[in-house]
Amino acid sequence: MEVNSDDLNAGTGTKTVADQLRSPKPPKPSKLLKSPKPPKPKERVIDAKVSENDLAEQAEEVSLRPLSFADYIGQERLKNNLKLAIDAVKKRDDGTTLDHVLLYGPPGLGKTTMANIIAHELGANLRVTSGPAIERAGDLASILTNLQNGDVLFIDEIHRLRRAVEEVLYSAMEDYKLDIVIGKGPAARSVRLDLPQFTVVGATTRTGSLAGPLRDRFGLIHRLEYYRIPEIEKIISRTARLLGTEIAPEATQLLATRSRLTPRIANRLTKRVRDYAEVHGNGFIDTDLAEGALRLMEIDELGLDPADRNMLELILENYGERPVGLTTIAALTGDEAATIEDYYEPYMLQLGLIERTPRGRSVTKKAQDHLAKVRRDFA
Ligand SMILES: Nc1ncnc2c1ncn2[C@@H]1O[C@H](COP(=O)(O)OP(=O)(O)OP(=O)(O)O)[C@@H](O)[C@H]1O
Ligand SMILES: [Mg+2]
Repeated sequence: MEVNSDDLNAGTGTKTVADQLRSPKPPKPSKLLKSPKPPKPKERVIDAKVSENDLAEQAEEVSLRPLSFADYIGQERLKNNLKLAIDAVKKRDDGTTLDHVLLYGPPGLGKTTMANIIAHELGANLRVTSGPAIERAGDLASILTNLQNGDVLFIDEIHRLRRAVEEVLYSAMEDYKLDIVIGKGPAARSVRLDLPQFTVVGATTRTGSLAGPLRDRFGLIHRLEYYRIPEIEKIISRTARLLGTEIAPEATQLLATRSRLTPRIANRLTKRVRDYAEVHGNGFIDTDLAEGALRLMEIDELGLDPADRNMLELILENYGERPVGLTTIAALTGDEAATIEDYYEPYMLQLGLIERTPRGRSVTKKAQDHLAKVRRDFA
């Protein structure tokens, strides 16, 4: 039976998580007056998010995306577990599919890439959708009834699925059945459809926002970790090779330390530095050119950019070492709370530049020392 839907990828028009989290109350004006916000740079090179409007960047990202486990650098535990599970499915060859997989972790660490690899390694079709794109239960029903045996359904931003849609997904994931109501009023009847065996790969930057029952439907749940510096070096070398650019090993090391332990940022820095080397040199990226480019972008030794440092400075100026709530920080910097939580904070927490307490976030001594050093270096 066919289930119709208007447009599976229709815009959402829904409130984003960011909107919901936005503070209704900005902090007292007197505090804000102390330090007017500097104008924001138009584009943040080290922002781990891909701009939804930048089609060129999206295309480039796809072209740099590894297609097999062999090309996917790092995340060894994740790879080993998935390889084992995929090999077992292939060996069984009895029509059963891979358990549903949930990948979570900060942006730019390779969740979408891994979803592609899973489908590729299974030799399966990949269907791609996202939480906010599935507006109604009918949209999901349409996606599910169009799947074929063995397909992989990638649901990005799965924490943003609506409740009504989520409930349809539960039974579909659990026993490959779809309960739908046909018709309206007294003539309405409920039918149960059999679905093909499929695998959901869900990706989210926050597991905290994922409903318990949904989480429980995933057999394989994995957190992607920040990469180690040698792994980032390998990713930079690979990217430079794919871009047809030569880079000195010392320059690779330097860029790796500035990439926030995140492949997406490593790739982006490599591209920016390549552009700089083409303009200021003959295209070969040596340490001097890499340093020049980083200085121009004002990216410091820890990979922080002016917007990151600005956030730390604003908290220090207004609150000192006292803990501050997320919405207050958002109001201070003019960002959305979700942006701070997803993009600024995870790396700073990892580095011990900020601490999270039940009463809010506070800037550490380590961050203060770092800021003082940067002030000297960039003076
Ligand atoms: N392990 C890896 N090895 C090599 N390159 C990688 C790896 N992981 C990610 N990348 C590169 O980083 C880019 C970003 O990865 P990806 O889009 O998969 O991140 P993500 O976790 O889905 O981010 P988001 O949360 O923003 O959706 C990819 O284009 C890919 O080129
Ligand atoms: Mg992604």
